[in-house]
Amino acid sequence: MGGARRQDTYARRAQAEGYRSRAVYKLIEIDQRDRLLRPGQTVLDLGAAPGSWSQYAARRVRPGGQVIAVDRTPVQPLPGVSLLRGDARDPALHSRFLEQFGVGCCDLVLSDMAPSLSGMRDADQARSLALARSARQWADAVLKPSGALLVKLFQGTDSAEYQDELQRSFQRVVVRKPAASRGRSRELYLLCLR
Ligand SMILES: C[S@@+](CC[C@H](N)C(=O)[O-])C[C@H]1O[C@@H](n2cnc3c(N)ncnc32)[C@H](O)[C@@H]1O
Repeated sequence: MGGARRQDTYARRAQAEGYRSRAVYKLIEIDQRDRLLRPGQTVLDLGAAPGSWSQYAARRVRPGGQVIAVDRTPVQPLPGVSLLRGDARDPALHSRFLEQFGVGCCDLVLSDMAPSLSGMRDADQARSLALARSARQWADAVLKPSGALLVKLFQGTDSAEYQDELQRSFQRVVVRKPAASRGRSRELYLLCLR
């Protein structure tokens, strides 16, 4: 199936299944393969708007779990999801999070953060890398010792360097490229496990 047709199919499926974005099928595929989400977990979702990853995660961590959704644009309320609006790179937002939820509270950090695209590949990759680095800083601060990170990155010349950085904090770093993401940008997901 061609890239545009595949994206249309995912968009229609998201609408039919009540998800806010077709992006959810990327997380679902990775979760089904790697069994990331479990009942009782606390999950931080960075770059959560419009909210499909949080919707799915909130269902999967029930009962007893919670999802905290961070985005600089508003996320409409969702059951089982606490919303925190702001720029993930803002130290004040980090402090607010830590005050509210505590250090080392999370089982899983998800980051689907993406820059607004300029169309200039190198610039977009550099912005994506800055967001991915921020996700790693969050993971270092908020994850439990056994916690995991799933982070989106636009592939570029610095991708290998970023993967090396991740290897310093995690035992295993694997690349995931879900079907819903194929045929689109050079985005990939790095799954980091301890
Ligand atoms: C691809 S969308 C995420 C889609 C989401 N996973 C879903 O399932 O609905 C990328 C998001 O990253 C957010 N974002 C980009 N830069 C950010 C930043 N510095 N801080 C917080 N959110 C950011 C954007 O506002 C956008 O909502």
